[in-house]
Amino acid sequence: MSKRILTGIQPSGILHIGNYFGAMRSAIELQNQNPGNTFLFIADLHSLTVNPEPADLRMRVQRLALDFLACGLDPEKTAFFRQSDINGVCELTWILNTITNLGLLERAHSYKDKIAKGFVPNNGLFSYPVLMAADILIYQSDLVPVGKDQKQHLEITRDLAIRFNQVYKKDVFKIPEPIISESVAVVPGTDGQKMSKSYNNTIELFGEEKAIRKKIMSIPTDSTPMEAPKDPDKCNIFALYKLFSTQEQIDALAAKYRAGNFGYGHAKQALFEAYMEFFAPMRKRREELLKDPGYIEDVLKKGAERANAVAAVTMDKVRRTVGLK
Ligand code: AMP
Ligand code: TRP
Repeated sequence: MSKRILTGIQPSGILHIGNYFGAMRSAIELQNQNPGNTFLFIADLHSLTVNPEPADLRMRVQRLALDFLACGLDPEKTAFFRQSDINGVCELTWILNTITNLGLLERAHSYKDKIAKGFVPNNGLFSYPVLMAADILIYQSDLVPVGKDQKQHLEITRDLAIRFNQVYKKDVFKIPEPIISESVAVVPGTDGQKMSKSYNNTIELFGEEKAIRKKIMSIPTDSTPMEAPKDPDKCNIFALYKLFSTQEQIDALAAKYRAGNFGYGHAKQALFEAYMEFFAPMRKRREELLKDPGYIEDVLKKGAERANAVAAVTMDKVRRTVGLK
């Protein structure tokens, strides 16, 4: 049996190219590692911890699904579904809550960080890692690829799985292994800092062509005159260009920077064209998907059926084990 790979993504807003190169692309590529045994879900229940506007949450879930499918997610290879469509995730969260020491959750960095920022926590935020453990354990996942920021949540998941198996003296849960992507390069924003919604320096993944052009043309640069040679490695435009280009194209642009008579305006134009070319097939696919809104719902429903079939087996075992059945 091939190993089951599972990961979840929060529908946190309009996706930008930092999300694409930092997280989406590798999440989509998982489908080719273990086709048919990869699970990817939209963590809508986790999003509720900040009480979003209902219409906004619905829109973000739809957009996330649309954007992943446009970028090449193949729902035949990866079961793609909404967390809230899985029966048993919330029930398992409760059952795991009953074997979770408060201390374990009080030590969670993401919780402590939010409190340090003055956030008044609700109980959902506090037990966020327990819901995440339920997400992972319910599918008997072998491998869980996540970013560095989720490392501790995976440790908590493993702790809870081991503890449950010990308390009930039965191997109910598989102990999952994290795959931590340490090496993902940080995509810079238009101001050179890390690209992030909170810094207002993003380039949207599927922005309107005009808006993207405007964003790229307004990237701040230094005042080196047009004629002067420039160091590509000190230029943010060049760093972004590299994301979209082959080594040959990168070398050619670097040579132009160094030769002089090549201004930042030219570099921005090259970046804009590279962006449009790179995303052209995905933009086209997205346009097609938009014409058929029933398709996304259909994909998520079928994905949920596959995931529910696996979750039901675990939940039956869990209920028997704890004495509910
Ligand atoms: P966020 O919604 O900002 O938490 O981002 C979701 C995911 O996108 C994170 O897990 C990151 O791995 C990835 N990501 C976001 N911004 C960047 C960036 N500037 N460079 C690389 N990866 C990023
Ligand atoms: N907490 C994860 C994040 O913010 C999302 C997530 C929820 C997740 N449940 C998961 C990731 C289970 C992996 C496995 O990125």
